[in-house]
Amino acid sequence: MFRINENFLKLQSGYLFPEIGRRVQAYAAANPEAPIIRMGIGDVTQPLPAACIAAMHEAVDELANSTTFRGYGPEQGYAFLREAIAEHDYHARKVNIQADEIFVSDGSKCDCGNILDILGAGNRIAICDPVYPVYVDTNVMAGNTGKVHDGGRYGNLVYLEMREENNFEPPLPAEPVDVIYLCYPNNPTGMVASRESLRRWVDYALEHRSLILFDAAYEAYISDPELPRSIFEIEGAERVAIEFRSFSKTAGFTGVRCAFTVVPKALDVTSSDGTTVSLHSLWHRRHTTKFNGASYPVQRGAAAIYSTEGRQQIRDLIQGYMRNAATIREGLAEAGFRCFGGVHAPYVWLKTPDGMSSWEFFDDLLSRCHVVGTPGSGFGAAGEGYFRLSAFNSHTNTVQAVERIMSAYALKS
Ligand code: MLT
Repeated sequence: MFRINENFLKLQSGYLFPEIGRRVQAYAAANPEAPIIRMGIGDVTQPLPAACIAAMHEAVDELANSTTFRGYGPEQGYAFLREAIAEHDYHARKVNIQADEIFVSDGSKCDCGNILDILGAGNRIAICDPVYPVYVDTNVMAGNTGKVHDGGRYGNLVYLEMREENNFEPPLPAEPVDVIYLCYPNNPTGMVASRESLRRWVDYALEHRSLILFDAAYEAYISDPELPRSIFEIEGAERVAIEFRSFSKTAGFTGVRCAFTVVPKALDVTSSDGTTVSLHSLWHRRHTTKFNGASYPVQRGAAAIYSTEGRQQIRDLIQGYMRNAATIREGLAEAGFRCFGGVHAPYVWLKTPDGMSSWEFFDDLLSRCHVVGTPGSGFGAAGEGYFRLSAFNSHTNTVQAVERIMSAYALKS
């Protein structure tokens, strides 16, 4: 008889966002007139930048002609895209990342999970709490955790609590850890990391020979040029970190699918027989074996965001979403909510009113305001009593949602 990966049986219920979708669908079916505004999953709503559309059209036309047709592309991504990334995302910020250290893929969510293929068993893994649930669930699937405890936490994971009391900054682990997941700008709290804060993590990793898995999917939302957009802006990080980046939130590619992972050549580790092994070569082997590359039109579309007009168009797109974030933050603060984030990130994190649990507030907000958000407890035990609102909507919808929330809760909070 065949066997299954029984680690999957340790997973708690379904993945957070489908669960929210299910509840909203049930509510909409029971209340077909309710004008629901969705501010739950961080999914973009505005059309793709014109430069991307034009580049993708052109690429499709190339595929229609036998002289310009292309079949399999390089698994790691076309040089035109990797070189544009290296130049604009790294060299422009004085970061020495080369095109051949960049691996183009179809999404950061997949890469965050896939990276575990090249890590061994027995690593002590540190995860922030609250956190993007993919980091936890993929470690459960990979067998890196024990069973789930009563509070919803898994054995063998080291949880770094981000609370109001520590300004949502994860503390350094109290015990030595091998792998650390960090996400900045942070999902779900919307907070951003200073250079000093990242320096602390790189120093920790250098001292303990740990690996930092740095998720920078929201870096394009940082408006202060002094703030670090990449872990590699911190000296020494190229010896301890892997960075995940995505075009999903930068250019509205959630449905188009394109991302990249940076594995520096300087990042190495000692294997059990004492040999020095490069993580770049392991990831290269994994990527070229299990992946056939993102599609040509999609990579052309992604490369177009680095053109002069593309850069302006994504700036406008992001400014639009950040205007929404300001509307949410300011409106809710006026209504008496305690709000965090939303300045360099498209998420606003708020304390639920009247001591409501995260899911109680989810139901209350849906039934009283027809607004969908994400319960903080879905991101981890330390998220209980908090709630996330996403700024990825039209401005009209955002204003309407905030007005509804202000009139429903202003007197209560
Ligand atoms: C979120 O809402 O946290 C994100 O959209 C999820 C994702 O990027 O996969």
